[in-house]
Amino acid sequence: MKKQYIIANWKSHKTVDETEEWFEDMALKVHEFGDLEEKVIIVCPPFPLLPICKKLIHQHKLPFFIGSQDISPFAEGAYTGAVDGKLIREFADYAIIGHSERRKYFGETPELLAEKVGTARAFGLQPIYCTAEKEEKIPVGVDIVAYEPVTAIGSGHPDSPENAEAVAGFLKQKNSVLYVLYGGSVTATNVNQFSEQSSINGVLVGGASLSPQDFAAIIHHA
Ligand code: PGA
Repeated sequence: MKKQYIIANWKSHKTVDETEEWFEDMALKVHEFGDLEEKVIIVCPPFPLLPICKKLIHQHKLPFFIGSQDISPFAEGAYTGAVDGKLIREFADYAIIGHSERRKYFGETPELLAEKVGTARAFGLQPIYCTAEKEEKIPVGVDIVAYEPVTAIGSGHPDSPENAEAVAGFLKQKNSVLYVLYGGSVTATNVNQFSEQSSINGVLVGGASLSPQDFAAIIHHA
């Protein structure tokens, strides 16, 4: 069985109470599944929930990892509002970098994203680099790319599995990346059409990761 990353991107959602409920419900579901085999499950909450997620994963004995949704391009220092890699590393193993919402709403450029990849690496975080374009030059130091066409995100209209497979193959051919995931309107019903493609190594899930039932079903069917 090939290794698969199944990533929950909570975006700007959830309170402390809602996070506790999510993990409680998730624990019941996941323990029903038994062995997760080659599935690497990563939860990416908003920054203030990182320590709580770490505590709850430990408490419920879940074989899950944690990722941040962003990272400062700088190391610690006088950068008001920034969250640096050293702090993130206390809680997380992964960092999403370059999500299309960061590019669109926060003006993040490829140059800035390359710096963020460098900082993530410097602090031992594995970047999960998002791109909407198959032609984008993926920065050095990225092993995991998530291909997410903008029109597929949150729209209920995913890319076709055939096109996603072709893009994943292209990205691997043109860059030295090891894993390409697909993201954009992934659900429990369609996940398997993507995960079964030979060049696709998992999925990045937004909306459907907010419900523990839906996300557990995605893990199960991937
Ligand atoms: P979606 O979001 O699953 O809600 O389409 C995916 C993403 O933005 O990563």
